[in-house]
Amino acid sequence: MLRLRQAVSNIPTYHPPLAGREGLRLDFNENTVGCSPKVLARLRNLGPEDLARYPEREPIESTVAAFLGVSRDELLLTNGVDEAIHLLCQAYLNQGDEALIVVPTYSMYRIYMTAAGAEVISVPVEKDFQFPANDLRAKITSRTRLIAIANPNNPTGTLAPADDLLTIARSAPQAAILIDEAYYEFCGQTLLPRRRDSPNIFITRTFSKAYGLAGLRVGVLIGDRNQMSAIRRVSSPYNINAVALACLPEALSDQSYIESYVREVLQSRETLESALKDYGIPFWPSRANFILARIGTTASEAKAFVESMRREGILVRDRSADHGCEGCVRFTLGPRKHTNRLLTALATTLEELSLAPGVSRS
Ligand SMILES: Cc1ncc(COP(=O)(O)O)c(C=O)c1O
Repeated sequence: MLRLRQAVSNIPTYHPPLAGREGLRLDFNENTVGCSPKVLARLRNLGPEDLARYPEREPIESTVAAFLGVSRDELLLTNGVDEAIHLLCQAYLNQGDEALIVVPTYSMYRIYMTAAGAEVISVPVEKDFQFPANDLRAKITSRTRLIAIANPNNPTGTLAPADDLLTIARSAPQAAILIDEAYYEFCGQTLLPRRRDSPNIFITRTFSKAYGLAGLRVGVLIGDRNQMSAIRRVSSPYNINAVALACLPEALSDQSYIESYVREVLQSRETLESALKDYGIPFWPSRANFILARIGTTASEAKAFVESMRREGILVRDRSADHGCEGCVRFTLGPRKHTNRLLTALATTLEELSLAPGVSRS
């Protein structure tokens, strides 16, 4: 009888609701208008020879390293941040090791940690989803080998102070500390210049969010050069496909596109915040391209809301099942034209379901 490894049997099932995403997609924190036209022009120029040969990652890693101001041996391009998380788990977690996450947070940390056979220890956020620096430190033991922190966090949008992150890294020198900066472009704060303060720090970035390239699957893992050379051994030499590699320099070269998209998202963030305030709907100030709001007090109210929004042509994400998020829905932000559509659907839905004003924050 073919038997799975015990750790694999323990993996919680994760089904991102990707099926039938018809409508304005404000449910996965993607760029809602897509990538730079320069990327599309490069795609149109690809020829058969570009696809026939195995992809060569290194020259493009040099381009990305120069852009980020790190040296090439401190950086690895990965098949999305998801692969970076997976590689860290492969490299540092033995069966029975402890791995720490904050809850709520991005789902894939738990999945890859569990798959590696680690015991995942969840540390609940503080009031208003603030980063639980002291509680996290208190959970560090000699068996802690990996700590994963999304900064800003998803689905809450809250940001942990850099000093807290460094204190945690120094308190657990035996553990890899992942600071996942997938939403960096929308918040502008990074631990990158201070990463060498503690050689166990790893930082990730992605091209899936501000850059509008989620479908190409490209992320970046940055860390101490000695650690990175070991991690490179765990990864496939061909983990980034040729199409993605061809497009990356174009994406990076069009910073004005990214800046103008981010500017629009930040304006939309203010617009949605003020609309939610007017409706009396509790929400949490976000540093990312999304806002978490408590639409109702129960999971069924959040579900009904998401379904009604879908009927209005707007996809948003029910986060009720996340720790401390009962009744909460996450709205991805795009440029003004998309936020206007969101606000129209929001008004109709709230009226239809009689959900606002006066939903109280628990
Ligand atoms: C915090 C965080 N990290 C990583 C990812 C996934 O990034 P990628 O598309 O690069 O795998 C997400 C996607 O939602 C995220 O929210």
